[in-house]
Amino acid sequence: MTALLDGTARTDAADLTLRRGAARVLLDNWVGTGTVPSRTLYPHQWSWDSAFIAIGLRHLSARRAQRELESLFAAQWGDGRVPHIVFNSSVPNDAYFPSPDFWRSSTAGAAAGAPAAHETSGIVQPPVHALAAWLTHEADPGESRRRGFLPRLYPRLVAWHDYLLTARDLGRGGLAAVVHPWEPGMDNSPCWDAPLARVTPAAPDSFRRADLDHGHPADRPTDLDYGRYVRLAVAYRDSGYDDRAARPHFALEDPCVNALLIASETALAKIATQVGEDAASHTKRAARLTEALVTRLWDDEAGMFLARDLTTDTLVREHSVAGLAPLLAPGLPADIVERLTATLTGPRFRADSTDLVPSYDLTGPAFDPTRYWRGPAWFNTAWLLERGLRTHDRRAHADRIRRAILETAGATQFAEYVDPTTGEGRGARAFSWTAALTLDLLTTQEARR
Ligand code: SER
Repeated sequence: MTALLDGTARTDAADLTLRRGAARVLLDNWVGTGTVPSRTLYPHQWSWDSAFIAIGLRHLSARRAQRELESLFAAQWGDGRVPHIVFNSSVPNDAYFPSPDFWRSSTAGAAAGAPAAHETSGIVQPPVHALAAWLTHEADPGESRRRGFLPRLYPRLVAWHDYLLTARDLGRGGLAAVVHPWEPGMDNSPCWDAPLARVTPAAPDSFRRADLDHGHPADRPTDLDYGRYVRLAVAYRDSGYDDRAARPHFALEDPCVNALLIASETALAKIATQVGEDAASHTKRAARLTEALVTRLWDDEAGMFLARDLTTDTLVREHSVAGLAPLLAPGLPADIVERLTATLTGPRFRADSTDLVPSYDLTGPAFDPTRYWRGPAWFNTAWLLERGLRTHDRRAHADRIRRAILETAGATQFAEYVDPTTGEGRGARAFSWTAALTLDLLTTQEARR
């Protein structure tokens, strides 16, 4: 039994029911080589979803978790990028937009090294993969060694990080930039409103959204947002996905993307030790990234990290949960850890309440409790904060977030996201990373007892 915030306790029976429910979701969403985020809304393989899914799946089957990451990296491009979607060729084109015939990776991306054998998108998502690979290895080191999991994946992970820190160092300050709002994974965050306002939307009749066949319009990005997403993606595609030629109209340094790169470089150091490669270069890179993150994205007045808009070279003054993710960086200066913890538990994010941490400032002008990344609470970001707080030994705060995740996941049938003011589930149900990260917390909690 573990004590809850309101004095009641989670029972072992409740944990068992939750564990079974989470396992069911992961078994149902497995498609043979990987896992779909949702059977309805997202019928292909997504990059950062697969990483989070592997982190939970490793507790059910270490081999399956390895295959999850391997199948994603089988579609890695020659230039090192890991595409944000790997398409399943047996799913009809109209089941998801934008479909393979929109991205045209194998032709438009050929010069950048897009694989001929897989159709993918041409943009990326946050680099959670090395962290996921390390945790997957740790779940069953024997199975990992037998299958040569780390030696096979290590060079691919290195190429992925090299891509982000060379081709994507668009601000020349040592951080990775994103060139589309889908890349940081928080599609319609208010952080992108000002930079996106400069983008002329594609004509509404030039594309057909498929997400509204499954999601409620009030939970999803607007048509105007989609018009701009399409315009940016078409321009990138038509440049041949060439980061030197592209001259993006949207280019930002996001604190969560870079925090995950730091966490993943730290994990790469551990992987390098296992495979007999140089760990020190990764530790050094993590330290350099942490320094660059503080120099370029820390905002003392906000008490958190903010995104940098590279078009204007200014910080975007919107407070998103992405700006708290740098808690994941083990080398973050102690005074910044202190300030971030205060912001996380203060009125903007209320992490010490029983509610799940919102994706955007509860007091912010753009806060919307139901619309995708403009306020709803997501389980992956809560999991990252839980891990970050534990990294810096803020155990009591971490415990509260852990309990909020478990309670909310169970109460919402593993919702994609929830209204942070009511706890009501929104978006898809039986969402894979919600189930995976629930399973991870249940299992690691047990291991710690
Ligand atoms: N999050 C996007 C969507 O909603 C794609 O990555 O489809």
